[in-house]
Order: sequence, then structure tokens, then C-alpha cells
Amino acid sequence: MKNHDIVEKNIGLMLFFVIIAISFGGLVEIVPQFFLKETTTPIEGLKPLKAVELEGRDIYIREGCHVCHTQMVRPLRAEVERYGHYSVAGESVYEHPFLWGSKRTGPDLARVGGRYSDVWHRAHLYNPRNVVPASNMPSFPWLFDAIVDGEQTPKKMRALRTVGVPYTDEDIAGAEAAVEGVTEIDALVAYLQQLGTLPILQQKR
Ligand code: HEC
Repeated sequence: MKNHDIVEKNIGLMLFFVIIAISFGGLVEIVPQFFLKETTTPIEGLKPLKAVELEGRDIYIREGCHVCHTQMVRPLRAEVERYGHYSVAGESVYEHPFLWGSKRTGPDLARVGGRYSDVWHRAHLYNPRNVVPASNMPSFPWLFDAIVDGEQTPKKMRALRTVGVPYTDEDIAGAEAAVEGVTEIDALVAYLQQLGTLPILQQKR
């Protein structure tokens, strides 16, 4: 009897070897990720979001914008020509949770900063049909009345700092004042307008 026949006829032994094979394959794929600098080093110029932008990001999550919009330009010619530089790991190191997404009902937003004016965004978010007649994106009129709750902002920053986002003590101390009286629409637009605007992402690809 060949050795292989022995393994094939003994399910316990077979399982043992299957587990060894899968574990080895997993380790080879997963372990190097922990040592790849590229995935954990922020790209040049990356800064944590300002207080107002951070609140805007939370509104983006609360309203489910990420359910229809990705923030991940894939390195495919069609996407790079439409949106700009493909997404790189180093631009997401301060993102908790990341908003890459996978459902592309609307356009990718990773590079939308600066593409439209603030006025355009406001009109669009109030009722997308105002500026894009065939749009099926929902309206978000309540953002124009609601005011950001600044009491939470320093706490959010402190929480992010514990997972490695380099907020300074001054950032945290000034956070509540920075968002005082800011409407939710202003915070959301401030967040959108900084997406993908780092100079390194504007470079030729
Ligand atoms: C039900 C799906 C859906 C949701 C939820 C949604 N959108 Fe959209 N969005 C779309 C579609 C479809 C378009 C393309 C038509 C248009 O421009 O209105 C779009 C377009 C956009 C654009 C223009 C992008 C470009 O490059 O032209 C922006 C900016 C945008 N959405 C922001 C948001 C924000 C912010 C939210 C959350 C407050 C949001 N969207 C929620 C579907 C959605």
C-alpha cells in the first residue's frame, strides 16, 4: 500500500494533514501583511480629520452614504480615468472604521473633494434632483436644520487617539469650540470637500 492510500483511508489522519495544509497557506498569506510597511505607514501629508470634518464623517456614516458610495478607486483604467489616483492603503491608516465599501449604486467618492463647489453639494444634498434631474439618490433636507453636538467631539477624538490617530492635546481641547453652532450640512460638506485632496494623490499616475 502506498503512503497516500493510508492517508486516504483514514479520515482522522486526512483531516490532520488538511488542517496543516490550510494553516500553512493561511500563514503564508496573512503573516507578511503585519510586516508590510506600506499598509501601516500614512502617505505623505496625511493628517487626522479636523473636528468639523470628523463630525461630517460621522453624519456620512449615520445617513448611510457608504451604503451606496464606495471610497475605493480600483486600479482599473476606467476608474482611474474617471475618478483619479487609485486608492492606496496608506491613505486609510487613520480611518476607523474604514469606508471603502463595495456597493456602487452611486459614484465612488474617494476623490470627490474640490470637484464641486460647496453650493453644489448643498443643493444636491437638499434634493439631488435639483442638480442631477435623473438622480435616484435620496434627499437629506434635515441636515440643514440640525446642529452638531459638540460635546461628543473631544470624546471621539480621544477614542481615535487610543487606536493610533495622532490627535494632539490642543486638537482635543479645541474640538468642542470648533464645531460650536455648525450645522450638520456644513460638517458633511467639509468632510466631502477634503476627500482625496492630498497633493500626493494629484500626481500623475
Ligand atoms: C440610495 C443610494 C444613495 C445614497 C444613500 C446616497 N447616494 Fe449619493 N449618489 C447616488 C447616486 C445614484 C448618485 C449619482 C446621481 C447624482 O449625482 O445624484 C449619487 C451622487 C452623489 C454625489 C456626486 C458624485 C459625483 O462624482 O458626481 C455625491 C457627492 C454624493 N452622492 C454624496 C452623497 C452623500 C454625502 C450621501 C449621504 C448623505 C449620499 N450621497 C447618499 C446614490 C446614493
